[in-house]
Amino acid sequence: MESIATAQCDCAPSRHNGPVDLRALVAAMSDARPGERVWASLVVDEAVLARLIRAAEHPRAFDHACRTPPDRWPHPGTPHDALITAVCQRVDDFRRLLEAALAAVELRDFSFAPYLRVAFPAGLAFDEPTPAQDCFAQDLGTGGIPSTQRHYGLRWAAAFSLWVAVDQWDRGVAYRQQFVGCAVRAAMGLDHHMHVDLTTPHARALGEVLSELGSWQRDGLPVQLHPGDLGWQWRFGPAALAGALRVWTANGTVVAIGLLDEGSLVRMGVAPSADQDEGLARILLRDLEDPARGVLTGDKPIVEARFGTVFRSLLRRRGWIDDEPWTPLVRDLRSPVETPRVRVETVGHERVADRVAVQRAAFDRSTFTAGRWTVMSRSPAYRHARCLVGYDDRDNAVAAATVWSAGEGRPGLLEPVGVHRDHRGRGYGTAITLAAASTLRDMGASSATVVTPTSNAGAVATYASAGFRRLPAVTDFALVR
Ligand SMILES: CC(C)(COP(=O)(O)OP(=O)(O)OC[C@H]1O[C@@H](n2cnc3c(N)ncnc32)[C@H](O)[C@@H]1OP(=O)(O)O)[C@@H](O)C(=O)NCCC(=O)NCCS
Repeated sequence: MESIATAQCDCAPSRHNGPVDLRALVAAMSDARPGERVWASLVVDEAVLARLIRAAEHPRAFDHACRTPPDRWPHPGTPHDALITAVCQRVDDFRRLLEAALAAVELRDFSFAPYLRVAFPAGLAFDEPTPAQDCFAQDLGTGGIPSTQRHYGLRWAAAFSLWVAVDQWDRGVAYRQQFVGCAVRAAMGLDHHMHVDLTTPHARALGEVLSELGSWQRDGLPVQLHPGDLGWQWRFGPAALAGALRVWTANGTVVAIGLLDEGSLVRMGVAPSADQDEGLARILLRDLEDPARGVLTGDKPIVEARFGTVFRSLLRRRGWIDDEPWTPLVRDLRSPVETPRVRVETVGHERVADRVAVQRAAFDRSTFTAGRWTVMSRSPAYRHARCLVGYDDRDNAVAAATVWSAGEGRPGLLEPVGVHRDHRGRGYGTAITLAAASTLRDMGASSATVVTPTSNAGAVATYASAGFRRLPAVTDFALVR
């Protein structure tokens, strides 16, 4: 790193075509004589400017090197103040000043106004802050905060510090208010001290992933990835399930979980606390858009993101387009559920064959087997699940469903529901759905949820007929690379 002494004696040509003495230059900027100030202001040579910027990156050293008896320093601030005022007047690309601005964050009693004007020329009226803007805003906020407090209220501290900094800015109240409003958004947008890890969990960690995801299920929030979705995938074995999961952890806390379907579709669950977290949303987007991150690798990646206000809006802003619409349906379970008009049994080992037979007769491409049912039923997820089979009055297994609880007082999930193709249109779909809702109620669920493609009119009608309330459709997001 270059020393301030070098910066002082090795500057580019001056009006005399000799080396510029920075001290003289800084003094001239505040000189009472207009001619001196004009000279100083005309020194726009790129090499000089580069030296000045470099000098500003070492504020304390610069002040020290320019040490002048206080009574002889004509500027109201320090030499460093004069230096950055001059530099900021000459540079309009903030990236060139970022290091200097960050170095100034360490100072006390320093006005950031010159840097702020360059960093946020439009008064922070932007949707997509540049990395340099983000970085500066964050450092303004974190400067001086003890590291032990950095995980807490960090972004609000950043916003507050920006407010203090802007308070010294003299551009008028309206402009200032706009700045502050945007500063808050910017400061909340990226917490560069937030360390987010993306991992593929080990099969041994699946229990923790399930309980984390379960804790995110809450009534009134959009229906999103549920432990039952993972439980149903468990039929392919814990290693396959773990390999299809991606877990984002911020400062030790799980904040998002993705369930992959062959590298081209990821079903996302986002922690309720991260709903408005723009910093996390950006990180998720970065990971989803970059095939090298090992999440989505196909040509037409699709993201199921039913929750995460900022995450969803960022997907749109970044050009992801609407894909298939899905319809969530919910039934409140505070009141008892009507008794279905068919006999419905809970599946134990003796009814596995019926459960498998109905599944295969309901879903054309089903690969379900008794072996897979056994693998699934031994999983920790299945401790909170039940498989049901409905029988007609001739004892034929005609309908089946699996229900998954996320714990007492939380929404449970129906996944899947199917009626044997030879027995449709006779009310068995409605009956098994009622039985599923009733079972979830017995397990302590607060509500029963289900999501089906909006195009599956039969399924939507069936759930509605079983007392489920239809919620607005939610689309997946697709990216055409
Ligand atoms: C969807 C499915 C479960 C419906 O089962 P079903 O036994 O035929 O349904 P029901 O006879 O109980 O009908 C329930 C209601 O849905 C309506 N319905 C059923 N199939 C329909 C269809 N294809 N189009 C429009 N409405 C339909 C019925 O008219 C009835 O309405 P009503 O109560 O207002 O009279 C069955 O078609 C199925 O297993 N499909 C394949 C698997 C599937 O898609 N599962 C859902 C995935 S989430």
